[in-house]
Amino acid sequence: MAPVFRTRITELFGIAHPILGGGLMWLSDAEYVAALVNAGCMGFITPRSFDSDEDFTAALVRCAALTGGKPFGVNLTLSSRPEANGAVRRWLDIALAHGVRHFETAGYAPTELIGTLHDAGAIVLHKAPSIRHALSAERAGADAIALIGMEEGGHPGTNELPTMLMGALAAEQFRVPVVLGGGIGHGRQIAAVLAQGHEGVMIGSRFLVCAEIRAHRAYKEHLLGCDEHSTVRLLHTLGNTWRVLRNDTARRIDEIERAGAADHAAFGDLISGRIARDHCYAQGDWQRGMLSLGPSIAFAKRIEPLSAIVAQLLEEARTALARLSSLEGVPA
Ligand SMILES: Cc1cc2nc3c(=O)[nH]c(=O)nc-3n(C[C@H](O)[C@H](O)[C@H](O)COP(=O)(O)O)c2cc1C
Repeated sequence: MAPVFRTRITELFGIAHPILGGGLMWLSDAEYVAALVNAGCMGFITPRSFDSDEDFTAALVRCAALTGGKPFGVNLTLSSRPEANGAVRRWLDIALAHGVRHFETAGYAPTELIGTLHDAGAIVLHKAPSIRHALSAERAGADAIALIGMEEGGHPGTNELPTMLMGALAAEQFRVPVVLGGGIGHGRQIAAVLAQGHEGVMIGSRFLVCAEIRAHRAYKEHLLGCDEHSTVRLLHTLGNTWRVLRNDTARRIDEIERAGAADHAAFGDLISGRIARDHCYAQGDWQRGMLSLGPSIAFAKRIEPLSAIVAQLLEEARTALARLSSLEGVPA
């Protein structure tokens, strides 16, 4: 689809549309990220999703082939547990060696990582759940910021503020371009973000039903029946807030948390990401696993190619902005 909006983020990333597909654990593989890039957006492969460096490398090579050499990105998510970050530097080196120059960083204590990427000549978009964290990422050298509200599917941090409010508060506080994410699933929200003075949006949940996402059809069909009440925020008491689909696992986690769980060990295997991968994404059993998901899934009505979803979002945004300009000049 021909470009509709030109912003500082489309310029920075060299993309047609101001839409970024945030990294999705287990799901941001070569096919999905290439679909984003080929639809004129930017996507980020998640190295944590692969069993080995060889598999991650193969995904980079495959994505480059699927995009015909167009740039794509890699997501580097830092865990709160330092022992889980041992491979981040290796993934970064592998990505750079394969020509990747676009990175989405997220998670805990990113200052050093942002600096390293910046020094390597990469473009770094840091995803932050609060204005304070985002400003410190900007000081650390981030080239762009994704500011994420509590509606986000996955880990929105301990922040309680919604995207719309944070966006309005953040306007004019940043030197670098800012996109907003969390809860965005309709083009009228893209129009609202641009009207707030920001440069684009980051989307995750709304794209889960696209044809290119490698998740079982039964899961996608379940998502089509979800509404804005179908997700829940859990593990807030442990400082590791996680917004997921309401399912059997989520209910069990909620019970254990309410009973006063003091640490992650109290949940045993229930919070293991591999359960989501093996039972839901691979086999379609959506009652099992902590399945990252936000309320914007309510906008998903059919399984279709990603490019069709992007085209619809842009058309909706255009309609919303046309309505805004039609209001101009109404006598007081
Ligand atoms: C299934 C799923 C997995 C995610 N995994 C990650 C991840 O590994 N790293 C990360 O930085 N963000 C992750 N996120 C967050 C997304 O990148 C993005 O910020 C978020 O989906 C935007 O909010 P939305 O879901 O309301 O659209 C995940 C989100 C979902 C829905």
